[in-house]
Amino acid sequence: MDKILVEGGFPLRGTVEVNGSKNAALPILISTLLTDQRCTIRNVPNLRDVDSTLSILEELGMRSERSADGAIEITEEDRSPYTAPYDHVRRMRASVCVLGPLLARRGKAKVSLPGGCVFGVRPIDLHLKGLRALGAQIRIHHGYVEAEARRLRGATIYLGGPFGSSVLGTANVMMAAVLAEGRTLIESAACEPEIVDLAEFLVKMGARIRGIGTPRLEIEGVRELGGAEHSIIPDRIEAGTFLIAGAITRGDVVVKGARIDHLTAVADVLHSAGLYISAENDAVRIHANGKIQPVDVTTLPYPGFPTDLQAQMIALLCCADGISVVTEKIYPDRFIHISELGRMGANIRKEGPSAIVIGVRELSGAPVMASDLRASASLVLAGLIATGETEIHRVYHIDRGYEKIEDRLQSLGAKIQRVTEE
Ligand code: EPU
Repeated sequence: MDKILVEGGFPLRGTVEVNGSKNAALPILISTLLTDQRCTIRNVPNLRDVDSTLSILEELGMRSERSADGAIEITEEDRSPYTAPYDHVRRMRASVCVLGPLLARRGKAKVSLPGGCVFGVRPIDLHLKGLRALGAQIRIHHGYVEAEARRLRGATIYLGGPFGSSVLGTANVMMAAVLAEGRTLIESAACEPEIVDLAEFLVKMGARIRGIGTPRLEIEGVRELGGAEHSIIPDRIEAGTFLIAGAITRGDVVVKGARIDHLTAVADVLHSAGLYISAENDAVRIHANGKIQPVDVTTLPYPGFPTDLQAQMIALLCCADGISVVTEKIYPDRFIHISELGRMGANIRKEGPSAIVIGVRELSGAPVMASDLRASASLVLAGLIATGETEIHRVYHIDRGYEKIEDRLQSLGAKIQRVTEE
């Protein structure tokens, strides 16, 4: 198992290029189940979650090939399989999104029910409610969702839940509705750029979708979809992580390819924390001058501040000149990083769905344990500013969502390396 060693105290300077978005790539790859024609998806990041998605698709009769430039070609070879087994779904929750496309095109789906995860229960009731509204017969049996439908029928579906819209719920139901008979109206649809990217890919395949990027999606079902080519949007969470890396080390970092229009809330919060952030041609630049100011941050569905940058933001606010309150409105229990940051000298107290972050003069390097993807990123960021060496274990979490993070931070001047543990 690998670990990452970081020696803190070096301001990051230079340019780093952002990769394609993981959370756009996963449902888009899955949506190729909706056609028997070849699809070409470009700018796909080279990540463990992408490999897991391709192996589920393979299990479902899809053949894929990756070329040197990062493009993935996918073609259907066998339309008969309809089961996504526990072993796959357990590793990656996004695989539950095969339900919608399998039902819509193969009339049947058997998908392992994903369990909870380190940041909460994470139910899929909204996915199932939407698919049932489209006419699917669904039962939960021996830990599997078993769904059937001869042909789905359009319906009006309210997809809001107790924590707002659901990103993958919207993806799942939208993918089913594009092949349903008649018109579907999804109210309280997720507006995240990743959902916009998926909808735009579906339109290229021949789907008829209106209201893309709004909470009301109108879908006119078609009988079949064709192959299409598409380039995945840049990863706004990866871009945000690099921007925070620049901020925490009081450096000057340009994230090439990042889209400022996807990062409005993040730029606003960083600006309030005293950072200089600007859009430059095809890039976003951050530079620091002076102290980090405390700020209050609340995570919300897009265009609000993303929950996937909450842990990284807490790492930054550990070094602020005062007290910040970070409130988690998407996953109220997603605070597992707090205790590991505490081992590095951070002063954070959890109160309900909020973290009270009291800025400290310095963090000190320590051995810490990665617990999930974004929590691991926050430990790397803290390591960049901590005195001495930080040793981050279980870094396979970070490899799910950041490609070669150590090489890319190194290119900005960080003292970071990966070591293979015995
Ligand atoms: N929810 C329900 N019922 C449902 C589905 C969701 O109550 O049927 C709740 C969730 O428990 C949560 C809220 O609704 O409180 C929002 O969850 P959502 O469904 O939007 O999350 P997701 O679609 O499962 C995606 C990303 C996550 C990201 C969230 C929120 C992918 C593959 N995953 O998950 O990304 O945190 O949206 O933006 O797109 C990550 O990349 O590290 C990651 C965890």
